[in-house]
Amino acid sequence: MGAKFVLVANRLPVSVTRTEEGFLFKPSVGGLATALSSISTEKILWVGWPGLPAEDFAGHEKKVFSELESLGCYPVCLSREEIEVFYHGFANRTLWPLCHYFLQYTIFEAAYWEGYREVNRKYAETVAELADEEATVWVHDYQLFLVPGFLRRLLPRARIGFFLHIPFPSYEVFRVLPWRREILEGLLGADLVGFHTYEYTRHFLSSLRRLLGYEHQLGLVTTETRAVKVEVFPISIDYQKFARAAEDSEVQARIEALRREVGERRLILSVDRLDYTKGIPQRLWAYEAFLERYPEWREQVVLVLVGVPSRTEVEHYQELKSEVDELIGRINGRFGTLGWTPVHYLYRSLDFPELAALYWLAEVALVTPLRDGMNLIAKEYVATVPEDRGVLILSEMAGAAAELSEAMLVNPFSQEDLVRALHEALSLPRDEKIERNRRMKERLRRYDVHRWAREFLSALEETRKLQESFVSH
Ligand code: G6P
Repeated sequence: MGAKFVLVANRLPVSVTRTEEGFLFKPSVGGLATALSSISTEKILWVGWPGLPAEDFAGHEKKVFSELESLGCYPVCLSREEIEVFYHGFANRTLWPLCHYFLQYTIFEAAYWEGYREVNRKYAETVAELADEEATVWVHDYQLFLVPGFLRRLLPRARIGFFLHIPFPSYEVFRVLPWRREILEGLLGADLVGFHTYEYTRHFLSSLRRLLGYEHQLGLVTTETRAVKVEVFPISIDYQKFARAAEDSEVQARIEALRREVGERRLILSVDRLDYTKGIPQRLWAYEAFLERYPEWREQVVLVLVGVPSRTEVEHYQELKSEVDELIGRINGRFGTLGWTPVHYLYRSLDFPELAALYWLAEVALVTPLRDGMNLIAKEYVATVPEDRGVLILSEMAGAAAELSEAMLVNPFSQEDLVRALHEALSLPRDEKIERNRRMKERLRRYDVHRWAREFLSALEETRKLQESFVSH
């Protein structure tokens, strides 16, 4: 096919489900899809998993493939067994907890590793069949650490970029992984490796030096054969989409409905995928302690907690779901009255108007992950909320804290910090809110997701020039 620009991610930006009437194709309008649609380079081909096992569309491949093709996507077909070892296994039972410092949840299982390697090889082979020899290939996230290495062997002249969307952990944590060297070598197949923060870059460079003996100069790593650039690109959001959300009539209707439901009460918002890295139980314990310590806020506030179902086949996610259900029941049972429910819980994903209405009305957003690569909820909230209304309480452990320094920064492990921040946020003077929000909004406006994608891709071009000068010396 000779595609000039290929984007590879574990999931396609379209998910396919099988219903009784046939197949359903649901495009997801994630930040990445928006960012890339604004870059007027070549037509982009997406390669990734369509979200259901190959067995579920056996016999219908032609239809599924051609429908996806019309959406600019090419599927990597994974069997149930491959999904189990690669996705539920190595990606989500090994790498995800390890990179988020949950060593106690990390499973080291040779069969998972082998499945991960084979599926990564499959992704690389699929790309190599579709791409031009000199194509630009942008590989995303921890599910595909080995793709750059495999791809480099198949397409030696391609421009390969890799971006990690989660934290790269400290060397002391990364070193426990039995396959640590293979992962690093896989990444070095790329020309450019990008991270959200300077810290993640530092951790990666220190792992390269200690495990493989490669030094770097200003982020340029030199191996025996190649030079690889390592750089920081904090991902962002489609700022205008959120900043202008309240101009949309559907969003306005949701805001009105929500206003009627909440009444005069002050809205505290919490939105996450239901993931143990997000610190949801800690947030609920803190809310309980806050109601205990400051009885004057009872009946005056309401916490809307949105938990988007995620990775429900992995045990720790199931346990978290029960824990959150129980905690909410306990808080509502303890403090609730006939006219007041302290926590409103939504266990589902929200569409854009529902989400934007919540962002717009919430006086406080509690974004307190125990560890998070970036956290775009924090950015979306700041972009949407009117400048004289909202206060963002943000975890120091989220990558976003490096940019949103005017938020109320908290240590999510400190209940004292969270309780105090809740009280202060609800009491913050209007002028101070405006001052903090203006600065953060301005920063997000300037460095949005379009700029993020442009900067990554132009750095990939620059790296090529650097490599040429490296080879000629
Ligand atoms: C994180 C990861 C993404 C992933 C998303 C949803 O943001 O960095 O790569 O797609 O979670 O998780 P899921 O396992 O459903 O793809």
